[in-house]
Parts: sequence; structure tokens; C-alpha cells
Amino acid sequence: MYKTVVKQIDGELIADNKIEQITQLPSLREAASLIQEGEVVAFPTETVYGLGADATSSRAVSKIFRAKGRPQDNPLIVHVASQAQLSSIIRGDLSDQAWKLIEACWPGPLTLILDRGELIPDQTTAGLTTVAVRMPFHPVALALIEASQTVIAAPSANSSGYPSPTSAGHVLADLQGKIPLILDGGQTRVGVESTVLDVRGEQPEILRPGGITREQLSEILGQELPTAGDSQGGSVNEEADTPVKPVKDRQKQKHTTPLSPGMKYRHYAPHTPLKLIDDQRVKRLPELLENQDLTRVALVLTRETRNRLGECPFFERVGQLVEMGSTADMSGIARNLFSLLRQLDNQQVELIIVEQIPETGLGEAVMNRLHKAARGSI
Ligand code: TXA
Ligand code: MG
Repeated sequence: MYKTVVKQIDGELIADNKIEQITQLPSLREAASLIQEGEVVAFPTETVYGLGADATSSRAVSKIFRAKGRPQDNPLIVHVASQAQLSSIIRGDLSDQAWKLIEACWPGPLTLILDRGELIPDQTTAGLTTVAVRMPFHPVALALIEASQTVIAAPSANSSGYPSPTSAGHVLADLQGKIPLILDGGQTRVGVESTVLDVRGEQPEILRPGGITREQLSEILGQELPTAGDSQGGSVNEEADTPVKPVKDRQKQKHTTPLSPGMKYRHYAPHTPLKLIDDQRVKRLPELLENQDLTRVALVLTRETRNRLGECPFFERVGQLVEMGSTADMSGIARNLFSLLRQLDNQQVELIIVEQIPETGLGEAVMNRLHKAARGSI
């Protein structure tokens, strides 16, 4: 049991990207000491909050799994602050494609799957011969890695299975007493996690859609990226499976075998049951829910559908209408997604119904999370 302390980092230093100055702050020094002693620390990144530990220490990394209640077979992303650090943890040379992506997207919400070097122990990658690496775009994250003088393994800092944390308050709600320190850098900007991309083959594959969109990646690489894995969501595969399949097998088993090991678990789910609905069916909700004896329902709609729906006496009676944002601003929807799910979970509703949005741009990452969180659709 820890007494969890929250230390706020000056918002102006963050806004001005003052990495050097942040590195000198007493709170940052304390966080770096904890990492060096093999402890865990929660910190902000541009996507979501991470729960960090020294990625080169199996003992430190095991504390991450314990604090989150994370299944041992789900590998972690290693965060670096420099290309020298990247080189120190991978095996072999980077391909031209990998270089292109690094130049265009780092620091930023893109995680690359590369061949693992010897510095990274089995615990960090769940025994895989690959390692997931990213350079985050957040001065606090970069300052922490630099001050710790090591690479930092960090999953999202939530209880395993629950929506990811986009504020220090979310981390505290999940991990109070389980970790010593949370660095508070305010609300995260992107709101969904990084895109996980396997760049080992000729044809890069998106294992998890995220903050860098498929469209952006296609443009950087000058080639279309086909949909892979279960990024379309669907059912949760509970089978213990060999995490990474040879490429040929993967194509065949596209809809049953998770490519990113973590994708097979139920994720991002509030405790309250959540169902998805097609925008065309929203008008019919009163009749669709008629025989279900529900008294408190939250209906989460896009601004467009909400405006189209107008007055809805049914919902004024049984529940509340919540706006998720406009489809003209997918980044706004992504930024607020997890926070909205957590908020609704605290409001004693019996059912959360969320409108599906188009899977374009960041909409793909949003729908991926919603499919994982949902128990089917209405
Ligand atoms: O934005 C993010 O990526 C955040 C922040 C904290 O950096 N981190 C994050 O970590 O989302 P996590 O652990 O919640 O998700 C990591 C995902 C999982 O689906 C995991 O299975 C996958 O990356 N992954 C990690 N290492 C892998 C590997 N070697 N091969 C394939 N997938 C891997
Ligand atoms: Mg996560």
C-alpha cells in the first residue's frame, strides 16, 4: 500500500514545451529517482496518462502489471526520448519506411513494432522477440525519460479493462494506494492512445488504430494501409492464443486472432453496460427500448444527430441526452471519449447507448475503443 501523492506541473511550462526547465523541477527529480529505484510513476503523455517504470528492469516492470491488474501476456510500449535510446533497445537497422515514419511522426502518437534488442527483458515484451517503441510528444514525459536516464515502459495508467485515463484524477480514481506518485499535467490533448504499427514486413500493418490516422500514415508512406487485425472491433476473444502470428496466418485469421496481444481482452469498458446504435436507428429508440423496463438511460449522440432529433419526450422521461461532439471535429470527440465514459459510469445510469460515428480519421480509433467497450448494439 502506498500513500499516492499527486504533484502538479506548471501548465505554462507544459504549454511552452520547456523540457529543460521541467527536468529541473523538484517533483520531476523525485519522479526520476523513483524510476531509478525501480518504482512506478504515473505521468502525462499527449495521448493518455501512462504508468511508467524502468523498461530494462524486470522487477520494476512487474510492478506495473501488479498495480494495473494487467494480464502478464500483454506486452508494454517502451518510451524513448532520443534516437540513441531507440538504437539501444532494438536489434538490427531500421528500414527506410521506419525512418520515414520516425521523421514524420516522432515525437508523437505512433508506436512502432521493431526487433527487440538485449537491453529489454522478457517481462517488458511478454516474451515476444519484438518491442513496441514510441517517443511521446509531451514535455513532462520527455523530461521524465531524460531525468531517469533510462527508457520507460508504460501502459495506460488505468485499472486493466477500464477506460484509459486522460487526467490525473482518472489515474487517482483507479490506482490510489497502488502507486507512489502521479505527475499531473492537466488533461491530455489527443485522448486516445498511440497507433501501433508493425513495420517489420514490406507492408506495414496497423495493429491498433490511434492518434496518428490511417490516412496520415498512407500519405507519409505513399501507399495504402489495409485494415488488419480486429480493429473493426467485434467480439472479445478470450482464448489464450499465441500472440504474434506469421503474416500468412494473420491474413487468414483476421477476425479471430488479435495481432496486438492486448487487443484480445475486453478494454475501455465502463462498469455500466454500453451499447452502440446506428444514427438511423436513434429515432426508433423509444420503441426499441419499450419492453426493457429501463428507468435511467444515457444516450450519447453526435451534435449533428442531436440537432436532427430535436425534442425527444421519451428521453426526457427515462434518461439524459449527452453530446459527444461534432463529426466535423473528430479530434474533439477523441479527446473527450474516455472522460465521458468515466463520467457517465459515475452517474448511476443502467445503460449507456452511444451513437456510432464514421470510421474516418480519428473516428477509426474512437470506434475501435467503443466496439471493445460495448456489449453489442441496439
Ligand atoms: O498512447 C499510448 O500508446 C499509451 C501511452 C501511455 O504511451 N500507452 C498505451 O499502452 O496505450 P497500452 O499498454 O495500454 O497498450 C499497448 C498496446 C497493447 O495493445 C499491446 O498489446 C501492444 O500495444 N503491444 C505492445 N508491445 C507489442 C509488441 N511487441 N507487439 C505487438 N503489440 C504490442
Ligand atoms: Mg491500455
